[in-house]
Amino acid sequence: MSVLMLRPAREDDIRTLAVLNRQLLDDEGHPTDIAIPELIERHRVWLSTKEWHQDILEIEGHVVGYIVHALNPYPLDPAIPERFVRQFFIDRAYRRQGLGRDAFDLFMETRVAPGGRVTLDVLESNPGGQAFWASVGCRPFFHRMELTRPAD
Ligand SMILES: CC(C)(COP(=O)(O)OP(=O)(O)OC[C@H]1O[C@@H](n2cnc3c(N)ncnc32)[C@H](O)[C@@H]1OP(=O)(O)O)[C@@H](O)C(=O)NCCC(=O)NCCS
Repeated sequence: MSVLMLRPAREDDIRTLAVLNRQLLDDEGHPTDIAIPELIERHRVWLSTKEWHQDILEIEGHVVGYIVHALNPYPLDPAIPERFVRQFFIDRAYRRQGLGRDAFDLFMETRVAPGGRVTLDVLESNPGGQAFWASVGCRPFFHRMELTRPAD
């Protein structure tokens, strides 16, 4: 039986993380056109500063996805540790086989303290992502609104 593993990313994962991050942005309909070289730099900085934890999802040594997350320094309730999931991605070739659900279970068991809370943002342009998070038990908590002041 193949076993899903979650392990911290290493230097030699940086390029893979950048490529998968670009796919994630495309899949969720994110408006940014950030390119692979800039994403490589971003993931490299996160690896060295540890500002964001980067975990690789693997099956028998093969990368099937990744998760980027960090403890929120400003939790809703200071008594409840809160972990923010910034990026959660399953490779396109492995979707709709229950891997995302298994990965989230593994993440909750190994990266979230008992009694801890998880928060995340999901784009309005990503109904599949919204359905996924609802299916693993997440519920909407607030709507983030935006407006850009026109350039002069
Ligand atoms: C969202 C994502 C992580 C789901 O991964 P996955 O491995 O396909 O998810 P699972 O197979 O575990 O799906 C579990 C359930 O979630 C729901 N679900 C998952 N993807 C869905 C989709 N595209 N549309 C509707 N429901 C979906 C279903 O209820 C599914 O159960 P089912 O297959 O029995 O119907 C993956 O599609 C992905 O990486 N997307 C691009 C990045 C992204 O959107 N990340 C999350 C937003 S921040």
